[in-house]
Amino acid sequence: MTKRNLILAVETSCDETSVAVVEDEARVLSNIVASQIKSHQRFGGIVPEVASRHHVEQISALFEEALEEAQVSADELSAVAVTYGPGLVGALLIGVSAAKAFAWANNLPLIPVNHMAGHIYAARIVEPLEFPLLSLLVSGGHTELVYMKEDGDFAIVGQTRDDAAGEAYDKVGRVMGLKYPSGKEIDEMAHIGQDTFHFPRAMINEDNFDFSFSGLKSSFINTVHNAEQKGQELDKNDLATSFQAAVVDVLVEKTLRCVAQYPVKTLVVAGGVAANQGLRSALLTQMTEKFPQVKVVIPPLNLCGDNAAMIAAAAFAELKKENFAQMNLNAIPSLAFDVKEESL
Ligand code: KG4
Ligand code: ZN
Repeated sequence: MTKRNLILAVETSCDETSVAVVEDEARVLSNIVASQIKSHQRFGGIVPEVASRHHVEQISALFEEALEEAQVSADELSAVAVTYGPGLVGALLIGVSAAKAFAWANNLPLIPVNHMAGHIYAARIVEPLEFPLLSLLVSGGHTELVYMKEDGDFAIVGQTRDDAAGEAYDKVGRVMGLKYPSGKEIDEMAHIGQDTFHFPRAMINEDNFDFSFSGLKSSFINTVHNAEQKGQELDKNDLATSFQAAVVDVLVEKTLRCVAQYPVKTLVVAGGVAANQGLRSALLTQMTEKFPQVKVVIPPLNLCGDNAAMIAAAAFAELKKENFAQMNLNAIPSLAFDVKEESL
């Protein structure tokens, strides 16, 4: 009987506990995601200790559920993959420890995966990737333009100098009294209002691929506070539209400029903020108009947020290279793209 090519992956870097089974690089047999967001909402952000506790409570059941839904037994697997950074150290450690124990008990190789690489490889589940590839990586903790000459080769060519795009969404959402995380709600409101506030588009004309969102956030907060002091009530939908227009303009402009400079065959938009409807449609429209030869891949919404299927998809590139970790693999909360195997 020929051995199947199956990876079980584990993701616990932030507030989602997830275990998935993926076959042949891109066929998702199961992708179980247990969100803890309700437990964090009353604090207005993620509480690391609460996140770790939820991961501990969920993880064993999710291994079973993922295998059962995939109709796969542990002895059919080729490897176990796990996110070992970046993320919250306590949260990462739960996944790393569980994956190590499972790999050891079932005599399987362990594949360490960078969470941000996982976000990019979510696109691989949608269609085969052609290199060189550029990825606009936009999440709650990161805003980066990552250039990949080939599979598994990552170079950051631009990044935020202060807040991440998702972080800016969540902070202005808080000022408007929205629930955490507020990206999705602001996105919905943005389709109702008008861009009446004309917030600044920081660094949009600068000749580099970097971003800055803290000035936009301050400008938004000052506008709301000034109105409050004068007893004026501002239209929240207009605030949302104006904020989103500023974020999307900068992300799209810098991405297109980067596509013009590098020999890009595929553009991938990845991370939680890639779920943004305004960003998706603006990028698709402008890319089709200006760079019709470049394939644009934006994963469906369920693969934009944190999930283990994307970690498995990234792990297949490492499996081919037999890039395995030892049983002393540790979590690296500030893991960057350039960590080499020797330091694992
Ligand atoms: O990648 P992700 O699930 O977690 C991190 O690794 O950070 O991204 C979460 C971020 C949050 O900041 C959330 O507000 C944002 O993604 N987000 C959105 C949308 N959906 C989620 N931001 C803008 N528009 C959306 N539709
Ligand atoms: Zn993420």
